[in-house]
Formats: sequence, structure tokens, C-alpha cells
Amino acid sequence: MTHRLTTTAGAPVTSNANSQTAGERGPVLLQDYQLLEKLAHQNRERIPERVVHAKGWGLEGKFTVTHDITQYTCAKVFKPGTTTDVLSRWSTVAGEQGAADAERDVRGFSLKFYTEDGNWDVVGNNTPVFFLRDAMKFPDFIRTQKRHPKTNLRSPEAMFDFWAAQPECVHQVTILMSDRGIPVNPMRMNGYGSHTYSLWNEKGERYWVKFHFKTQQGHAHYTNAEAETLIGKTRESYQEDLVNAIGGGDFPKWTLYIQVMPEADAGKQAYNPFDLTKVWPHGDYPLIEVGELEMNKVPENYFQMVENAAFSPSNVVPGIGFSPDKMLQGRIFSYADAHRYRLGTHYEALPANAPKAATMQHYHKDGSMRFFTNDFGNPDAYYEPNQFDGPTAQPEFVEPPLRIDGDADRYAVEDNEADYVQPRALFNMFDAEQKQRLFNNYAAAMGPCSDGVKERWYAVLERVHPDYAAGVRAANEAQNSDVNAVPVTNESPVPKG
Ligand code: NDP
Ligand code: HEM
Repeated sequence: MTHRLTTTAGAPVTSNANSQTAGERGPVLLQDYQLLEKLAHQNRERIPERVVHAKGWGLEGKFTVTHDITQYTCAKVFKPGTTTDVLSRWSTVAGEQGAADAERDVRGFSLKFYTEDGNWDVVGNNTPVFFLRDAMKFPDFIRTQKRHPKTNLRSPEAMFDFWAAQPECVHQVTILMSDRGIPVNPMRMNGYGSHTYSLWNEKGERYWVKFHFKTQQGHAHYTNAEAETLIGKTRESYQEDLVNAIGGGDFPKWTLYIQVMPEADAGKQAYNPFDLTKVWPHGDYPLIEVGELEMNKVPENYFQMVENAAFSPSNVVPGIGFSPDKMLQGRIFSYADAHRYRLGTHYEALPANAPKAATMQHYHKDGSMRFFTNDFGNPDAYYEPNQFDGPTAQPEFVEPPLRIDGDADRYAVEDNEADYVQPRALFNMFDAEQKQRLFNNYAAAMGPCSDGVKERWYAVLERVHPDYAAGVRAANEAQNSDVNAVPVTNESPVPKG
């Protein structure tokens, strides 16, 4: 087959090397549209990077249900035996698109399930909790993670200044500074839906739910020293690991578990089960196995499927619902809004985002990039209700009512002992070496901070555990007096087997 080069309008391109000039040495003619089009297209090859989670890596794959959870949900994606196509995107949070992969940061863990009832997105992290419990604080938090307006450098002072004023973040900061702060690659980490969502079944009963995707590859993490050496050699270690694994037929897998809380149980715990800074202890709400996620294909085109991917917690399907979690409620707005800005009005029609197993039929009309037909076979059916048998709402999928009460107000959560209980449980789980690495990781991260900010952070850690505060203080002081006094291990903290 001959591959004929054309303009975007389909006309033959006669030379793709020589511009049209007046004379052999001559200036270029403005009429050389083939050159103009080529230059103009190059100028438009970038879209804005994501405001957070800009650096990412994605694969395609499938999810198969192995266990019956239909007593909790009527979602078709959870019908026993069902296999659903999935797109994944993992990411770091703070770094820009060119950031090195093996940096200490929380990792995003996004999944798009192309279900029969439309796309269901899990837009989670590799951590079960988050820094905040109110969306109102998110833009300020992200500002502290990004660059300083004058120096254009990342600012540890800003990070710890903010964290010290938001003690509820100490749970997530503990995870970030622990061994799990630098996963070897996305295959070696868990994914968590993090928020409390809900499931509802055919009888209209609602259950609160947490989603956990546990790696079958085993956890593996880099120490700071290992990561620094690696980044000196390659900034793209995650992409390389993923492409090599898939190329070698080594398909990463995760087991999906859920934790389930009967609707009426919310409020009976010492913690707020809708507070994103809290987990549900496994002892209270055991993990229930659901199915297996296998990612097995590198997308044919990274930009088309990964850069153009638009995940949103607002994408739920019948049988899966929201919860009163204030952060989740904020995210229900934020993501689709970000996509309309980053990708354009019709971002849901792009190949990465268009439903595969369901049909998209809506009355949203024109706007930039309207490249799909949507007239339901009848151009007269462009409003609703209409006499032309256009699509109508489907009340049979209606969700059971979400019970809400209370007076509208702006509720602050006052200083709260519950904020320290779970980080304490985590700290107590670490052995002596894990604790020492935790302390050293803090020293590396907060070394440049002022004494005032350090003291404020020690006061937060003191409330988690006096040994935690003392350990971080000692690591900081050792670093101040002699950097070699901070014991840094090159041993990988978690076996990579
Ligand atoms: P469990 O002993 O049942 O669970 C401990 C959990 O901690 C496991 O899920 C384990 O993950 C995880 N874990 C181990 N090391 C780290 C680390 N460095 N960073 C983050 N997670 C880690 O206890 P509980 O359920 O009572 O929870 C105790 C504490 O464990 C919590 O306060 C919380 O900090 C943390 N945790 C709890 C989770 C939950 O959903 N209950 C989930 C994750 C963490 P894995 O099994 O994959 O090794
Ligand atoms: C990306 C907002 C909290 C996980 C994003 C983006 C925005 C955003 C605007 C960029 C979207 C894009 O351009 O494609 C917010 C707000 C939050 C919040 C307002 C709090 C109110 C969280 C939490 C998690 C999370 C709690 C995890 C539990 C992610 C992930 C991505 C992302 C994984 C990348 C999605 C992808 O792979 O494309 N967030 N976020 N965010 N966020 Fe959040």
C-alpha cells in the first residue's frame, strides 16, 4: 500500500522537505500553505498540563469479578464473572510533566471502568487517606506543593508551615515520609479509592464502602539514596518499568477488596467515617474480596489515551453512589470543570473517555470540537421532550434517597484527639529501622525549614507519639551538625521479590 502524504484537507503534499521560495535562495512565499500548516500544527501540539498530577503513566487492561457482592450492589460491573475493559493512569501529584518518576510524593491511582451502564472512574491514590477533609483547603494545600512565586523553587517552608497549621494531615504526611513514599513503580503499590463511597442493591438498600486495590506484585519502595542514584541515571523509570513489563508479558495485577459499613452504622464510630483523613480499621470493617484487575497493554498512542484521559469522581454508575464526604463533594465539581478547561467542551467524546460498553446519548449540543453526530437518527430530535422518539430519562435506575440532615453552616472541626489515633497506630506498626528511615526522610524533607516551623511540626508529632517527635527532632539536629551523622541505608526497606 502506498502511503500518500496529504494536507489536513486531504490535498497531496508535493514536498515535505523544501519550502516554496522566490528563487533558489529566496524568501519563503506566504502562499506556501503546506509549510504554514506544518508550523501551525506544531505550535498546537500541547494542551495545558494537569494542574496537579501532571506526570503520569497509563496502561489498558481488564477487571474480572471473582466474588459475589450483589447483596451490596446492583452495579453491572460487579456481576459475578463479568469482565470490564479498564484504562489506568498513575501519577505523581506535585511535579510537572517533566518531573522525575522516582520522587517522594503521593501517587495517583486512576481507573476508568468502561461498564455497560457507562464509565465508572476510581480517582484515588496509593494512600488510603488524604491531607485534608474539606475541599475549601485544597487550592492552598496545592499552592504549598508547587513552586514559590519569587524563587520558582519548591518550598519546604511552605509545605511544613501549612501542614503544622492543619494537624489532620499528619496521618497522610506519616505515610508520605514512610517507606511507602517512593514506590519502585506503580506495579509495586496499592491503590485506594480513599473516600467513602456508597453501594446500593436491587432492594434499594445503601451501604457505605471503601475500595482497596492491593498489589499482587508485592510492595517495593526506594530509599531516598536509591531514588537519588536512580534519578541520576533516568528520570523515566516508571514508564520504562511499565513498558518493559508489558513487553515481557508480565502483566501487573491487583486484587480489589471492599470494606462495607451498613448505612445506619455511620456515626457509631469514634471517628467520622466520611472524614478523608481517616481509614476504617480492618478489625472493624474487614476486607471483602471482589475481583482482579489486570493491566496488559501499553496504549497505542500515549497522548490519545493517557494525556487525553479525563477521570472524575463524578463518574459513577447505577449501584455505586457518593457519600457526605466533604472532599468528595468538592471533587465532584472540580474534575469535570478541569477537563472542560484542559481538553474542551466535548472531552467525554475523546477515545479515552467515550463509553465503550454503553451508548452515549445526550442533548448537549455544539461547541468546540463537536466531531460526533448525536441526532439519534433524527435531526428533529434536538430538544427534550420531543415528539420524535428521542432519548428520555430512565427512572428505573433511580438511586435510593441519600439521607441528609442538619443546618446549613460552615462547620470547623475543632482540635480533635481522633486525628492522632490512626497515625499513632501506623507509627506503632513500624519497626525500629522503619522508624529511623521515617525520621531521616523527614530530615531530608524539612532540612531547609526555619526553626519556628520545625518546632510547630514537632508539636504536632508529639501528639501522635513522643518518640515520633523526638526521632524527627534528633534526625534534624544530626543533619544540622553533621550530614554524615544521619544514618542512611541503601538497603531496600521492603523486599522486591
Ligand atoms: P491492619 O494491621 O489491619 O492494617 C495495617 C495496614 O497498614 C495494612 O493495610 C498495610 O497495607 C498498611 N501499611 C503498612 N505499612 C504502611 C505504610 N508505610 N504506609 C501506609 N500503610 C501501610 O490495621 P488497621 O486497619 O487497624 O490500621 C492501622 C493503621 O494502618 C491505620 O491507622 C492506617 O494508618 C494504616 N492503614 C490502614 C488501612 C485500612 O484501610 N484500615 C489501609 C492502609 C493503611 P498492606 O496490607 O498493603 O501491606
Ligand atoms: C487530578 C482537584 C483531591 C486524586 C486532579 C485535577 C484536579 C484535582 C483539578 C486535575 C484533573 C485534570 O486536569 O485531569 C482536586 C480537588 C481535590 C482533590 C479540588 C480536593 C477537594 C484528591 C484526592 C485524591 C485525588 C483526595 C485521591 C484520593 C487525583 C488523581 C488525579 C487528580 C489521581 C489525576 C487523575 C488522572 O490520572 O488524570 N485533582 N483533587 N485528588 N486528583 Fe485530585
